[in-house]
Amino acid sequence: MYPYLPVYIGLAVIVVAVVLQNKYQILQFLIFQVNDFMGGKGSKAAVNMNKKLHEKARCAIYPRTKDIKRFVVPDSKVSWTVPFPEYKPVDFTSEGVKAGPVWADKDIREPNAPVIKFNCIDGVINRTSFTGKYEIVNKCPRNPEGRTGLCGRGSLGRWGPNHAADPIVTRWKNSEKKILQFVAVQRKDNGEWAIPGGMVDAGEVVSVTLRREFGEEALNTFEAPPEEKVHIEKSLDKLFHSGTEVYKGYVDDPRNTDNAWMETVAMNFHDENGDSVGLFKLNAGDDAMGVQWMDITRQTKLYASHEDFIKTVAQRHKATW
Ligand code: BGC
Repeated sequence: MYPYLPVYIGLAVIVVAVVLQNKYQILQFLIFQVNDFMGGKGSKAAVNMNKKLHEKARCAIYPRTKDIKRFVVPDSKVSWTVPFPEYKPVDFTSEGVKAGPVWADKDIREPNAPVIKFNCIDGVINRTSFTGKYEIVNKCPRNPEGRTGLCGRGSLGRWGPNHAADPIVTRWKNSEKKILQFVAVQRKDNGEWAIPGGMVDAGEVVSVTLRREFGEEALNTFEAPPEEKVHIEKSLDKLFHSGTEVYKGYVDDPRNTDNAWMETVAMNFHDENGDSVGLFKLNAGDDAMGVQWMDITRQTKLYASHEDFIKTVAQRHKATW
């Protein structure tokens, strides 16, 4: 009855795209739709179109190296479902990881390497992913978010998921209760501001990691005199008693590789009246260059996916964003 209906719909989509200044994504979507219609291989990527592609995990130079350059992966080739025959990821595992510290696995590509049980709790090591079951290709786990331009483990200890935990401790800036502040630390490895999170140790439960990392990085509990330590522990008990989950999943971290990646659980611990945590004496720990109560604003630039987490927190508290 309306033979030109698909054409009109197509035109309307393009107009909306231009208006939203989102030409590229819509164009990509249309290409995948056509591909899909013709039975092509791009269909799965089209389904994921609204998902943000990992970007920091494709940074040009691998962190803390001068010349380890990732193979360039354009947006359209991130998904493993899109063929990329020219793809030759750079193989890199840092000397620190190769040295075999307790927090690192052995090289599973070596003959006679110990067997690792992926996608399950392997002894005391959590090798499950929040993203679901990940694939194992040529003995190695495959990054569930796609290509990164680098294979091996980079500076990450575990093949597959490397689990972290991020405590987002918040208070209101003043009695108007419009602007939220959170405890931010300046990372020693790259000078970027971040949530004072850290890695979940083997066998450790996330709630313990959250509290331990906050204590170590933002309050420097290691160096506090004994009487202050008692006071800090009491306040921490109160604060970490109840929190709300903000995020659980893959992190777009610059250290990620095709075979090793970061995942985290981010929890918010909020001091509504500013009379408990709000009064903590902040003191940067070993892994931090600085610590401060930082305003949460749209302009706040943070490490890895941390901006996304604090945005969620601001929105949940109906704070200015
Ligand atoms: C950091 C966490 C971060 C995670 C993923 C860890 O090293 O301590 O704050 O969320 O990496 O980027």
